[in-house]
Amino acid sequence: MRILQVSAEIYPLLKTGGLADIAGALPAALLAQGCDARVLLPGFPAILAGLQDPVRVGSFGTPWGESVTVLFGELPAVSQGEHKVYGYVLQAPGLYDRPGNPYEDANKRPYADNHRRFAALGWAAAHLAHGLDPLWRAELVHSHDWHAALAPACLAVWNAGQGPRVPSVYTIHNLAYQGVFWPQNFGDLGLPGHVFSVQGMEYFGQISFMKAGLSYASHISTVSPSYAREIQTPEQGCGLDGLLRGRAGALSGILNAVDDTVWNPATDAHLPHRFDVRNLTGKARNKAALQAEVGLTVDAEAPLFTVVSRLTEQKGLPLVLAGLQEILSRGGQLLVLGNGDTQLEQAFALQAKAHAGLVAFKMGYDESLAHRIFGGSDITLVPSLFEPCGLTQMYGLKYGSIPLVRRVGGLADTVTDTDLETLDDQTASGIVFNHFNADDYRRAIRRAFALYRRRSDWNRVRQTGMRLAFDWASAAQHYTNLYQSLI
Ligand code: ADP
Ligand code: GLC
Repeated sequence: MRILQVSAEIYPLLKTGGLADIAGALPAALLAQGCDARVLLPGFPAILAGLQDPVRVGSFGTPWGESVTVLFGELPAVSQGEHKVYGYVLQAPGLYDRPGNPYEDANKRPYADNHRRFAALGWAAAHLAHGLDPLWRAELVHSHDWHAALAPACLAVWNAGQGPRVPSVYTIHNLAYQGVFWPQNFGDLGLPGHVFSVQGMEYFGQISFMKAGLSYASHISTVSPSYAREIQTPEQGCGLDGLLRGRAGALSGILNAVDDTVWNPATDAHLPHRFDVRNLTGKARNKAALQAEVGLTVDAEAPLFTVVSRLTEQKGLPLVLAGLQEILSRGGQLLVLGNGDTQLEQAFALQAKAHAGLVAFKMGYDESLAHRIFGGSDITLVPSLFEPCGLTQMYGLKYGSIPLVRRVGGLADTVTDTDLETLDDQTASGIVFNHFNADDYRRAIRRAFALYRRRSDWNRVRQTGMRLAFDWASAAQHYTNLYQSLI
């Protein structure tokens, strides 16, 4: 099966969140399943720089009269051993040659021409399904998140005409980011007028890329079974729950996995000391090294709570702030790595200043430090308001840092709460709380301390987590079965 994966980010070339981790791991995992997968990406500088020996396969004109060249080559940084990942990259400097964040300017404002930048991506996918590269024609297009969500609409328009019908899968990584634009931009998209309708991509008078994906994809998937259910409710449907309920028969949740070549404490080159489930000596050393590195008091006994996250409303960070005293009064420490919302950045900076040695805040994005944090942390905090899947709780599990999460989305699907029953049957892997409020969260913090004091139980829970697979082979199998059913 020739499958084209379309996304705006790909680890390790360009990443703003979990989407990149998934887009970077899935192609090699599909190749390992015998699937002929290639990727399509916008030509951001970091992505073009990762394309080896590019050749020009063709070009196409955009609806607003710009010409986009499609380059092809291997992406060695994404390849895994014999599973070489080949990619098509759009060369359109006018659209993509901007440094920094791929979606917004230095003032954190979305680029005014984002609809054009990502419409080009959608049309490129449709062209690659219809012969732009004479040597390889996609039999199915699998696009990810709103940036790639126009692809199913472009394909549907093409499917209505001559030529082969090409099915599409659209994966929602986060329904909260929809790519909504003013209606006067519709003309730039090159789609027929009927697409701007309630049955198409019209969204409260505006145009929504997300909705285009949901309306036109042959199949919709999202990144955990729980989130697939939650987005069909008004609470989590972001205004699209009606549409999603209507498409429930073509909607499923496939749980994300962990890329073992990147996130494995036994081989992780970012860690000062490597370790595994049989020997956790390295873990203790990493904790001391981490405390020293970030300016926390080096103290083996103090439970170290950590957060690695975008600082946004989604991630439940106000709860982390509200529960800080609960951690400090019991002798714990808190380390936060993240950036985003200015108010949250300021609030954590303030706490770090007020509690030097006990609270540390590293503002920014630091891939290597993120690894060292999971390597040295005792408890990974993910108290999200909503969470399509969440990867950091899985990284915490793999690295022997017990996750403390809210029972929502993928967090509910990946972490088993610790109680007498789950301790007894050895399924307990973390601390899970139910309601998004400070009381429930604080209670969970107290339970984490209680578990920490019961060392043999603590070790057992930690070891259960470290043994969980979250392997890409089984996730990729789910995707290939899905593709098979659609082609
Ligand atoms: P989301 O995609 O919603 O941000 P995920 O948990 O799925 O959440 O994925 C987040 C990814 O981004 C993880 O790989 C995490 O380690 C990484 N990450 C988030 N913030 C930072 C940061 N400030 N520095 C380094 N890595 C980060
Ligand atoms: C999104 C979600 C996150 C998920 C990631 C990868 O960014 O917020 O929960 O893990 O995509 O699918």
